[in-house]
Amino acid sequence: MTGDPPAKISLRNVVKRFGGNVVLNGLSLDLQAGRNLALIGSAASGKTVLLKCLVGLYPIEGGKIEIDGTEISSLDTAQREKLMDRFGVLFQRSALFDSLPVWENIAFKRVTVGRARRRDAREAAILRLRQVGMAPETADLYPASLSGGMQKRVALARAIMEEPDILLLDDPTAGLDPILTRVINELIATLAQETGATVLSITSDMDAMRRDYPAVAMLHDGRIIWQGATSEIDHAGNPYLDQLVNGRPDGPIKMRLRKRAA
Ligand SMILES: Nc1ncnc2c1ncn2[C@@H]1O[C@H](COP(=O)(O)OP(=O)(O)O)[C@@H](O)[C@H]1O
Ligand SMILES: [Mg+2]
Repeated sequence: MTGDPPAKISLRNVVKRFGGNVVLNGLSLDLQAGRNLALIGSAASGKTVLLKCLVGLYPIEGGKIEIDGTEISSLDTAQREKLMDRFGVLFQRSALFDSLPVWENIAFKRVTVGRARRRDAREAAILRLRQVGMAPETADLYPASLSGGMQKRVALARAIMEEPDILLLDDPTAGLDPILTRVINELIATLAQETGATVLSITSDMDAMRRDYPAVAMLHDGRIIWQGATSEIDHAGNPYLDQLVNGRPDGPIKMRLRKRAA
């Protein structure tokens, strides 16, 4: 029998809720190995929740998530940690360790579990710093003294440090200027190509999405409502997709604006 290889990442009818708030409502998504997919959706549509379910930070209430054909809920802690070693993750708020200098944040895995010599790990971290456009001198600074954009780049350097098999990025270019946005997105694309990594990148930058990502999936109402090549967006005839990518205030997506309490 022939057919597509098993998906690198597969979500099947995933349900995730917080109390009565059903965030993921039967969500399905397949991502083949080596693909580079942008995940879009309006604010609070559940993009970050999806990513946290993928890395096992949030348990799911229904459906299943498979990585390389293995259901992650079936793994014990040791197996899950082994799997996690193959992930590079950049969280939305960077989530750097405040008490560690920049280089140790980047080389964290290598220093703690990899038993690398500190000097070698520092050198390797500086190489990554250069890749994300930062000077070697920043290696010894602490995260608190960096701007938000710089923290983001350090977090990206950390995510790509060990050339992960799967790279999950939560808005990697939010808060960066247009030039850096371009540099970082091109770096992600190059990295994906060179290392064969599978990339899932949440983005709210629609220009960057069109320019730098070959494929896109849109999350709305707890499901993936459209998935396809970025070049197809304008011919998709999907009013939700159309509204989001063109930033139209009017359309089928209703912003959930809370009424101010009196
Ligand atoms: N830990 C949590 N506890 C309760 N509700 C949460 C939690 N994390 C996210 N949510 C809710 O899930 C929804 C989706 O959030 P999120 O995934 O962060 O949105 P976004 O698409 O902007 O990343 C929101 O309504 C948010 O309030
Ligand atoms: Mg988010």
